[in-house]
Amino acid sequence: MRVLILGGDGYLGWPTAMHFAAAGHDVGAVDNYARRRIASETDSLPLFATPDLAQRAQRFEATSNHHIDVWIGDCTDYAFLSEVVRAFQPEAIIHFAEQPSAPYSMKDFATARFTLNNNLNTTFNVLWAIHEHAPQCHLVKLGTMGEYGTPNIDIEEGWIDIHHNGRQDRFLFPRQAGSLYHTTKVLDTDLIWFYVRTWGLKCTDLMQGPVYGLFTPQSRLDKALLPNFHYDDIFGTVLNRFIVQVAAGVPMTVYGKGGQVRGYLNLLDTLQCLELAITRPPADGELRILNQFTETFSVNELAERVKDAAAGLGITADIKPIANPRNEKEEHYYNPKFTGFKALGLKPHPLTSEVLAEMIDYAVSLKDNIVPKRIFPRVSWN
Ligand SMILES: NC(=O)c1ccc[n+]([C@@H]2O[C@H](COP(=O)([O-])OP(=O)(O)OC[C@H]3O[C@@H](n4cnc5c(N)ncnc54)[C@H](O)[C@@H]3O)[C@@H](O)[C@H]2O)c1
Repeated sequence: MRVLILGGDGYLGWPTAMHFAAAGHDVGAVDNYARRRIASETDSLPLFATPDLAQRAQRFEATSNHHIDVWIGDCTDYAFLSEVVRAFQPEAIIHFAEQPSAPYSMKDFATARFTLNNNLNTTFNVLWAIHEHAPQCHLVKLGTMGEYGTPNIDIEEGWIDIHHNGRQDRFLFPRQAGSLYHTTKVLDTDLIWFYVRTWGLKCTDLMQGPVYGLFTPQSRLDKALLPNFHYDDIFGTVLNRFIVQVAAGVPMTVYGKGGQVRGYLNLLDTLQCLELAITRPPADGELRILNQFTETFSVNELAERVKDAAAGLGITADIKPIANPRNEKEEHYYNPKFTGFKALGLKPHPLTSEVLAEMIDYAVSLKDNIVPKRIFPRVSWN
């Protein structure tokens, strides 16, 4: 298949580009380095430097003989994006190209405005580009489990059947996000649903939980092929952050009571989910929504797991609750359904002590790169 990856330089986009190229697909990757720019502006550089997208693609081709087409440009620029779609004629587009940090979206007016404009406009443009130049193309859009928030009822897989005054209908499951970033994902979902109804596009909206890990069969080929790995408060996801905190000898920063439960997944399972989504597309005119996580943990449980894995390596890890910079429930009901990907055949990679130990070992080997002031929260929701 011809697979176009928007946000191909990102934490998820780059391993995805390599994965699909290695599986024999024709892959194109688009990025404007927004994440590199924001990371630099907010003093949130990753644990190790990575070559830029064009250099990575060259290195990957030299190492594996698989080619990735690269475009450097802004997906909010319709002239640019529509020309890429017209020329590449993708059968599937995986849309990662958004500002993905909740703290960044809550920092100040300029960062909130950028997040809203960037995320809504990339999604709007990709829908139009598909409509105009590749109407049979399957859009696979990265949303987040955070769209649902933490309701006091079971979370369904995207949709809910409502019985009201003797009648019934199916609606998008209610969404109530906890940051502006997550709210842009809610708005994306509504935008996609509108154009699916209007134009009969086929789309998969993935409600993904926080991802952890950095090793994939392709990223193991060469250190230059590893994804960007953030441990700071702005771009780092919680488990990746805890790993680096342990390597730095800093207590793990549990926000508040630590009873916040979320659905997590290994980077390998993100790749598996994307492959399943693309090889088993929905029907024309269907918006398929899949919850994308494999296990749920509270923040306290995650910290305990990291502590146990570190102990297995002879490292003493501490846990220190700190004031929660976010406005979120710290103890709550959480029961999200996870049936769609299981039905498609997902074989999850669970969070084992071996998985944690390999990550801790790697972070320890880069201990000298860790800048402690990037670890603690610098952005508050209030
Ligand atoms: N990493 C996670 O745990 C996680 C969890 C749930 C959802 N997601 C979603 O998955 C997607 C990818 O996340 P990630 O962690 O890889 O983030 P990332 O920031 O590492 O990757 C996003 C990439 O998109 C690029 N980009 C942003 N705006 C762009 C634009 N206008 N034009 C071109 N390129 C642009 C960035 O430069 C970056 O390389 C995001 O949409 C994110 O919201 C991520």
